[in-house]
Amino acid sequence: MQRLLIDTDPGVDDALALLMAYAHPGTKVEALTITAGNVGIEHTLRNALNLVDLVGADTPVYAGARDPLVRPAEDAAFVHGNDGFGDVGLPAPRRVAETEHAAAAMVRLAKQHPGALTFVMLGPLTNLALALMLDPDLPKRVPRLVIMGGAVNGRGNVSRVTSEFNIHFDPEAAAVVFNAWPQFELVDWEATLAHGILFADLAGWLAADNPRARFYDAISRKTRAWMQRTRDITHWHAADGLAMAAVLDPAAAVHWETRAVKIELDGALTRGMTVVDWAGRMDWRVQSRILMRYQLDRFAELIRAALS
Ligand code: BDR
Ligand code: CA
Repeated sequence: MQRLLIDTDPGVDDALALLMAYAHPGTKVEALTITAGNVGIEHTLRNALNLVDLVGADTPVYAGARDPLVRPAEDAAFVHGNDGFGDVGLPAPRRVAETEHAAAAMVRLAKQHPGALTFVMLGPLTNLALALMLDPDLPKRVPRLVIMGGAVNGRGNVSRVTSEFNIHFDPEAAAVVFNAWPQFELVDWEATLAHGILFADLAGWLAADNPRARFYDAISRKTRAWMQRTRDITHWHAADGLAMAAVLDPAAAVHWETRAVKIELDGALTRGMTVVDWAGRMDWRVQSRILMRYQLDRFAELIRAALS
């Protein structure tokens, strides 16, 4: 049984990743910790609770960071909708969040289940940075950390063109994690672009007659239209979904590169960039296993299963 703590800012692609995790046999979602990111935390928290309602799980949901550690950041409402779930007027969730802060819950759960949890980071790294400050021994108790973030060759997706949204939203938090965590897996924006799913295939899966497909069809409509207008008319990209595929079925990963990665905090043009020592020229600690290639048909299969 694979046991996951998922830190997330839902978010349309976060929702898909969560559906993938809930649908996957042999996987248990132990906790959802929520951060601001794609939209404000009042929305990301509500969206997470709504999704737990949809799948009928009893996962505890913990609210976390409202803001980045140091500097304010812009959200991504123009991609995900003002409420983060496509502005389709979802009802108020039935369940409520726990009272414990997400960072405190991360520390506590890792202590309660040492060596048992995989941490999956689908948003800015603020909650994990706070947890690390509270408990520097946290990595000793968490055997696997998978992070969706970064753009390893500088082909990013925010106004600082070298940077990716999750890292750029809170670069100081990312620096805390990248400097302290011994080893983790990184699924970056460029890998996301290299693993596009045909919109035509997605349309077929979304037409399935079940609550999950109907829900995802509704909340992703605006984002899909935006993607086709601005990026690629034929391929749909799901960053958090690809990270979740790597979590759920690592055997389908075909190629990883292991390198040292640091976070740029100051660059006037490059704040939030993931700087990779590709040639091994620096005396930096090598801590990142970077996903380069994943079996596309397996990724598609995990998505289809989540929407079935
Ligand atoms: C990441 O940023 C967010 O907008 C997505 O949910 C994903 O986690 C992609 O850069
Ligand atoms: Ca996300």
